[in-house]
Amino acid sequence: MSARRRVGVLISGRGSNMKSLIDAAKAKDYPAEIVLVIGNRADAGGLAIAKDAGIPARMIAHRDFPSRAAFDAALDKTLKEARVELVCLAGFMRLLTPEFVEAWRDRMLNIHPSLLPEFPGLDTHARAIAAGKRVAGCTVHFVRAEMDTGPVIAQAEVPIEPGDTPDTLAARVLKAEHRLYPMALKLVAEGRVRVAGDKVEIADA
Ligand code: GRF
Repeated sequence: MSARRRVGVLISGRGSNMKSLIDAAKAKDYPAEIVLVIGNRADAGGLAIAKDAGIPARMIAHRDFPSRAAFDAALDKTLKEARVELVCLAGFMRLLTPEFVEAWRDRMLNIHPSLLPEFPGLDTHARAIAAGKRVAGCTVHFVRAEMDTGPVIAQAEVPIEPGDTPDTLAARVLKAEHRLYPMALKLVAEGRVRVAGDKVEIADA
């Protein structure tokens, strides 16, 4: 097999999606390896999980920088020093500058807990329940400057059950996220994903 793609994961919190990527990459035939995890908040519990898994984990606190551009430049430098080829946002709660997004165009993925373009932003599960939806889900997409937009790589649906609360629905969707993100990253790392305009085309294996 050709060399595995070098992946950097950006997190702000508990890091369960990051862990799903780390676990998937343990398989010898997985086409990507997680070479770096960066957290931007001291309470990002995921950093400890990454360290325990033997992955280099860096804390880069946005508060230590005078501007968004300066923070993003530090991210960019750190990713490049680690020779990262693909970036995965995994619960990274910080808007990135258009310059950073452009620099990583079609090489930066995000996971979002709704079936985009429905329910971008926060509180997706409460909003899906309030809207009377019967189906919820999650999306992995390439990142564009506008929050929660960009060509969709993969989506998974989950049912909304009678009596669901935002928490019970979030738990069901999160399980789907943990399957979807490694699958979508695999497709990208294998070079099977092509962006055509605002859509993604996936080549057969
Ligand atoms: C996930 O629901 C993800 O879709 C969203 O933020 C949450 C992060 O959870 N972007 P975790 O840190 O991966 O556990």
